[in-house]
Amino acid sequence: MALRKILTEPNKILRQKSLPVEMVDKDLQNLMDDMLETMYAAPGIGLAAIQVGIPKRVIVLDIAQKEGTKKPIFLVNPEIIQKSKNNSTYEEGCLSVPGQFAEIDRPDRCYIKYLDYHGEKKEIKAEGMLSTCVQHEMDHLEGILFIDYLSKLKKTMIIKKLSKQKKAIERIVV
Ligand code: NI
Repeated sequence: MALRKILTEPNKILRQKSLPVEMVDKDLQNLMDDMLETMYAAPGIGLAAIQVGIPKRVIVLDIAQKEGTKKPIFLVNPEIIQKSKNNSTYEEGCLSVPGQFAEIDRPDRCYIKYLDYHGEKKEIKAEGMLSTCVQHEMDHLEGILFIDYLSKLKKTMIIKKLSKQKKAIERIVV
């Protein structure tokens, strides 16, 4: 297992649409292992493959970390079958939008079908925080970030801030 570099906005790769996985093989499992390790190290509760520069429809999640037990979920080619008409609001952040948070409304319940770590067909009912988390990560597969739901002004401000931070970091590295 190895840590991967998490890409941050602004970065064109993050805006790419990810492609379906054709086969869950050892290489893909290695990628999922790396993604999970990278997510735990960040630390975060969800990560999509595109955030480490791989345009594949793969997501890792673990919303149980706070309780001290690890319960990773691997979603390959996830699809939303059904979602609730009722929304819930959470303050969201993203490993690719460091240090920025905003309240976002999303359906409070959804049903997802996907392939698991072993390539087996599965379905889950996601509620509350898991519902938000899954939808946030599935947006990444379409090249969408949570800041896209904000007003143009807010979004522009955040991207400007992130660009500045990036330049500052690059200066130190050089
Ligand atoms: Ni994210």
